[in-house]
Amino acid sequence: MRYSRIIGTGSYLPEKIVTNDDLSKTLDTDDEWIQSRTGIRQRHIAAPEQETSDLALMASQRALASAGLAADDIDLIVVATTTPDMLFPSTACILQDKLGIHNGSAAFDVQAVCSGFIFALATADRMVASGMAKNALVVGAEVMSRILDWNHRNTCVLFGDGAGALVLQASETPGILSAHLHSEGQHRHILNAPGQIRDGRIHGSPYIHMDGGAVFRFAVRVLAESTLEALAHNGLQPADIDWLVPHQANARIMDATAKKLGVPPEKVIHTVSGQANTSAASIPLAIDYGARHGCFKPGQLLALAAVGAGFSWGASLVRWG
Ligand code: COA
Repeated sequence: MRYSRIIGTGSYLPEKIVTNDDLSKTLDTDDEWIQSRTGIRQRHIAAPEQETSDLALMASQRALASAGLAADDIDLIVVATTTPDMLFPSTACILQDKLGIHNGSAAFDVQAVCSGFIFALATADRMVASGMAKNALVVGAEVMSRILDWNHRNTCVLFGDGAGALVLQASETPGILSAHLHSEGQHRHILNAPGQIRDGRIHGSPYIHMDGGAVFRFAVRVLAESTLEALAHNGLQPADIDWLVPHQANARIMDATAKKLGVPPEKVIHTVSGQANTSAASIPLAIDYGARHGCFKPGQLLALAAVGAGFSWGASLVRWG
């Protein structure tokens, strides 16, 4: 086997929905400001007792059902998350146990914030393609609501909770065509949650801090650049993209990226309005949305692209079906 391909998708959004109007009751903000700047109408928020691994579990069970596999068929779990259940063990290990998988196969987390799913997918793809695993569960899951300062309108209106999962299987034909990953740690001050645990206490702010304008400019540049890099690597053109599936941070970032690439709006998957930015979960949530709504046809080309704190970013091309 030289490749991996997607054989199942699943996602989960917590029941509780918080609209922009709900936020405007406690914050100096309004629906018009949020929608016009970001395209976001509402976000889902996890219940207090729901951990990241619980959201991941629901998404994974749905992905397994769509792949027609039993949990025990999975021999690799990679979870992308910025909001793990605990410092350790990994959320992937907790998910493995909750799925009832006790076959000793590998499970670990990947941390690349909002680009985490692209990094997780690239890692699992190469492990499956090289024969280290046959059926991999690749998950993006977040409870971003736990690291937001709900009194800070510049950040808290932008994020939401959720999980998405894909099942990758070893294959003679692609599947995942390639992945292109990048990081530039010198920009880490632009977007971070700087708190540290030391001496049994949190030192520094545990909440998200961000220079929104700087993130916006960086995101538009690198989402387009990395997509073009992936296309060039495979001898393809922007016109060959059937579906652009960008990280769902902000509708304006996605629109600007699509425009730079010359991809028409009807070929871009948009879920941000109903979900806000779910960080590492946004791309698998968007893929599952596209799959369940019958958008993707066998043989079509999907271009995935994400950017997040670090900065870290990347793109991956997928042949569907
Ligand atoms: N409601 C109302 N006003 C708000 C607000 C809110 N929720 N958040 C910020 N404002 C105010 C600001 O305080 C500022 O007021 P001031 O001029 O009196 O200081 C004003 O709106 C303009 O803020 P500005 O930051 O210039 O707006 P913007 O057009 O750049 O949009 C973002 C702000 C955050 C929506 C935009 O920069 C963005 O989307 N950046 C990317 C963020 C992102 O996606 N991060 C995650 C990446 S993975």
